Amino acid sequence: MAPVAITGTKKFRNYVGGEWVDAAGGETFESIVPATGDAIGEFPRSTGEDVDRAVAAAKEAYEDWRLTPAPKRAEVLYRFANLLVEHKDDLADLMSREMGKVRVEAAGDVQEAIDMTLYMAGEGRRMFGQTTPSELPNKFQMSVRMPIGVVGVITPWNFPIAIPSWKIAPALVCGNTIVFKPAEDTPLLAERFVELLEESGLPAGVVNVVHGFGEEVGEVLVKHPDVPVITFTGSRETGVRVTHAAADQLKLVHLELGGKNAIVVMDDADLELAVDGIVWSAFGTSGQRCTAASRIVVHEKVYDELQTLLVAAAERMRLGPGWEADTDLGPVINRASIEKIHAYTEIGKDEGATLLTGGEVATGDGLEKGFYYRPTIFGDVEPGMRIAQEEIFGPTTALIKVKDFDEAVRAVNGVKYGLSSAIFTQDVNRAFRAMRDLHTGITYINAGTTGAEVHLPFGGTKDTGNGHREAGQAALDVFTEWKAIYVDYSGKLQRAQIDNE
Ligand code: UN1
Repeated sequence: MAPVAITGTKKFRNYVGGEWVDAAGGETFESIVPATGDAIGEFPRSTGEDVDRAVAAAKEAYEDWRLTPAPKRAEVLYRFANLLVEHKDDLADLMSREMGKVRVEAAGDVQEAIDMTLYMAGEGRRMFGQTTPSELPNKFQMSVRMPIGVVGVITPWNFPIAIPSWKIAPALVCGNTIVFKPAEDTPLLAERFVELLEESGLPAGVVNVVHGFGEEVGEVLVKHPDVPVITFTGSRETGVRVTHAAADQLKLVHLELGGKNAIVVMDDADLELAVDGIVWSAFGTSGQRCTAASRIVVHEKVYDELQTLLVAAAERMRLGPGWEADTDLGPVINRASIEKIHAYTEIGKDEGATLLTGGEVATGDGLEKGFYYRPTIFGDVEPGMRIAQEEIFGPTTALIKVKDFDEAVRAVNGVKYGLSSAIFTQDVNRAFRAMRDLHTGITYINAGTTGAEVHLPFGGTKDTGNGHREAGQAALDVFTEWKAIYVDYSGKLQRAQIDNE
């Protein structure tokens, strides 16, 4: 893979049936570097016709791919993982440009894809079902995972390499084929991802990429009659639209949506550790993780001290382009995002919360060229305020003061989302109660809300999703259907016990 050109625009294409092709309508859109506002490439602005072609290619490829032994399918994934290792630096450099996250986090994003791909490649020799005794003599029975068909993969820009791997690696090893609609903010990373898949020896048509926008590409994909499975990561609002669009055809839909994740800091917490955890979880990736800590629920006895430490830590953060070594906080993804983040600052002030630091677009030292927002902390936040209820997806967090553990649990659980939660405490009994009572798909003890590993289930309760999980064994449930198989070797008709009573 050639190093990525970072100046001037270059024209990129869709990948359909093993060919790199322009959009049928010939339209294009640009990918913009959030740190500078420069264009990094031009991509096909696809339409329904492009989706139709890609789905047809995926449908055709499915017939061979589903019959390719799973360990052989996995070999492609092992090669892909090796290529990701080989290109980790280029991809991380590109990510710090196209998406904007700081270099070390960009490398982490690629590492997550490596880990996920290796884990899922291992499934090629596992993908366990069950065997279980029959009620009848001379009869054998088992359950096996079956591939489903063409999977529509719709991914966000915040983990532009990791999240596609969470969906594409398990879907492939299970024997499905794919039409991939990457986020329109990070199309170049998606294109590199697919180039490496192609280089891994994936047969033509097994993965197809159609660039473009949600209304023009995503929606057509979700409604396409030959796409039985949709996996989507993004906002709650879009998740609801996906669900509606897929409902008439009773599609299998996997959703990974928003979060309003909280960190509880109890009066016995190691405060220095808690501050490190909060800073990393609230401001890492400029708060643009669905696992970001956007609420800090603090015991009243340590509230003032924690607030002082936290504000000082936020004010020490250096803003700049993700690719510069001394940057702590990169830009946010685009103009619309910075406007939304700032609108929440205004909402917080109007609601009567105290703006402790930040709350403004960052300027100076060339920052005005990009989309930079100062790390923002609100104090005196009530759990019911909008800034404590709604996903902001930026470097903004809200301090909520509580009297005791029970009030903390109520605050954490009192939102519509349920992705990640955390508690800092030295008390083992409290820690175990938190593990039981915090109603989220992920709970951390003495760590922040981010940093999930690939071999445990990832996803959330309530409006964070629709009950499915990504990663680990749970991901296989999204991309396979169970089949129960009964083999009678008695040589005679043995009626089932229920028919013999
Ligand atoms: C996301 O923001 O959508 O746990 C995913 C974490 C990462 C994944 C975040 N491993 O923060």
